[in-house]
Amino acid sequence: MAFKTRVFSGMQPTGSLHLGNYLGAMVNWIRMQDEHECIYCVVDLHAITVWQDPAELRAAIRGVTAAYIAAGLDPKKSILFNQSQVPEHAELAWVFNCVARLGWLNRMTQFKEKAGKDRENASVGLYAYPNLMAADILAYRATHVPVGEDQKQHLELARDIAQKFNNDFRKEIVAQGYADGNFFPQPDPVITGPATRVMSLRDGTKKMSKSDPSDLSRINITDDADTVARKIQKAKTDPEPLPSEQAGFAGRPEAENLVGIYAALTGQNVPQVLGEFGGQQFSIFKKALAEVATQTMGRIGAEAKRLSADPGYIDSVLADGTRRARAIATPIMDEVKDIVGLLRA
Ligand code: TRP
Repeated sequence: MAFKTRVFSGMQPTGSLHLGNYLGAMVNWIRMQDEHECIYCVVDLHAITVWQDPAELRAAIRGVTAAYIAAGLDPKKSILFNQSQVPEHAELAWVFNCVARLGWLNRMTQFKEKAGKDRENASVGLYAYPNLMAADILAYRATHVPVGEDQKQHLELARDIAQKFNNDFRKEIVAQGYADGNFFPQPDPVITGPATRVMSLRDGTKKMSKSDPSDLSRINITDDADTVARKIQKAKTDPEPLPSEQAGFAGRPEAENLVGIYAALTGQNVPQVLGEFGGQQFSIFKKALAEVATQTMGRIGAEAKRLSADPGYIDSVLADGTRRARAIATPIMDEVKDIVGLLRA
């Protein structure tokens, strides 16, 4: 069976979204909503795989929802909802806990990084995190998943789970009317976008991150215009003028990062930006960059703040998203139960 194109992605509810999130993920998601059926999920069940302060988590779920709407995600076009409000995610994740193999999860590099040295003390949830992610996607039989480079391995695991489920239950799946035996699709990662990797403003070899102790390393959605301008002014560079060609970025990660950000914010490609600024000093380029960054992030930040002042509105968006998400996921979960041999509720 040919699967209908359906886009699914998830974002963790963390308080502070930054330019890296915007250019790396949000921009793609927003663009895709005009071409496809898109389902976007605030993944609070993933967030609690490490301890979260309950009041902060509650605020972050609403805050991230507001930020995405502010950035241009249209909750009428796309389905925007909160993971824990749709019980099928946890239900299907349990089935996948029984499909995925320990050996597969043992290879996950993100678990190793997050658990660190004290692996015995990591939560079972953190270990099973990729199974829940597979359930997120496959509860909708989504075919395309826009994610960052760092999520590629988890996507491969989701593909393996889909395939093993199809194999393990082939006879039953065929009996349910799927002649080719494929109940779940193999979801594809979609890694595109002009500036998928936005680097720290203080170190061009490190990703821009909310956990970097230096606030100067990132531009937050909540930064006001003065702060944005100051951070760009202070951004690390080198004494050379901007190169005229891309090859001139060799050994100059900070220059490459700033030009990449400018290109992404203005919808140009890097050669176009170098055509304009090649040979010029950073002082001039940084002024132009500060202006476009302030415009975009300032607008989103102000709108997110305005929306956040009305939690009733945010909750109503999420309630509508939950209803529409369940309309897709419940019948799929019912079929999973039939296939596995569980009784429907
Ligand atoms: N693990 C993803 C991240 O940290 C978030 C996520 C959870 C996700 N479920 C997903 C992304 C499903 C895509 C599809 O970025």
